[in-house]
Amino acid sequence: MKRRPLLAGNWKMHNTVIDACQLAAEIGKCSAGLSDRDVLLAPPYTVLSEVAHVLQGSEVLIASQNVCWEEQGAFTGEISPAMVKSAGGSAAIIGHSERRQIFHEDNGMINKRILGALAFGLLPILCIGETLEEREGEKTYQVLEEQIRKGLAGVSSEGMKEMVVAYEPVWAIGTGKTATKEQAQEAHAFVRKLLSEMYEKDIADSVRILYGGSVKPANVDELMAQIDIDGALVGGAALNAESFCRIINFT
Ligand code: 13P
Repeated sequence: MKRRPLLAGNWKMHNTVIDACQLAAEIGKCSAGLSDRDVLLAPPYTVLSEVAHVLQGSEVLIASQNVCWEEQGAFTGEISPAMVKSAGGSAAIIGHSERRQIFHEDNGMINKRILGALAFGLLPILCIGETLEEREGEKTYQVLEEQIRKGLAGVSSEGMKEMVVAYEPVWAIGTGKTATKEQAQEAHAFVRKLLSEMYEKDIADSVRILYGGSVKPANVDELMAQIDIDGALVGGAALNAESFCRIINFT
């Protein structure tokens, strides 16, 4: 099954207005004409509109870095799906390991966010991944299975068609220590097999599974050559136009 590659840049808590607009403009330029892949940027909330404005008319997709399940109300510090959409976004990263670890979001809350995003027509990117301790304790697959099953609870087959999964081993995030292509492929194949037990096989075969964790210009090609790796979720290397442009132009 041929899946359309998705190269995503997660800016995390980086870039104020001027830097964000400049970086977005450069990425817009170097992604022009790439008709066989999708490019996505997840800027901080405060610059979603500006980035969307700069990229108007381009094919670059915009995502928020999280999203609430409610439409509006007393949820201080949260952002609703409608807000993301009105700022020009069409997707949301959900369950990033930094949300899980630093802000204690659990699988139950992440599931609510996923269902909320789907209900309001945003494409959710569900992040999963094990810590170093879990990997060394041989719990990787147990952790991934729990994150997938609980994160996707109540997601229908129709919903699953709108989902993206990102495997981001926590020990590889921001450490410069990338999972080997074999480790990443093995985890992705595990996730796809699990999805085929939960959903129809053609749906499991069509879901895009991104790899994240120290993706760089130097390793993107070999990662993208793996059969079950359908894209990348990039942190540090997405903050620099030259390196992110090289990544989105992987061969
Ligand atoms: P790095 O690419 O900096 O390791 O970050 C990965 C990540 O967390 C993307 O969401």
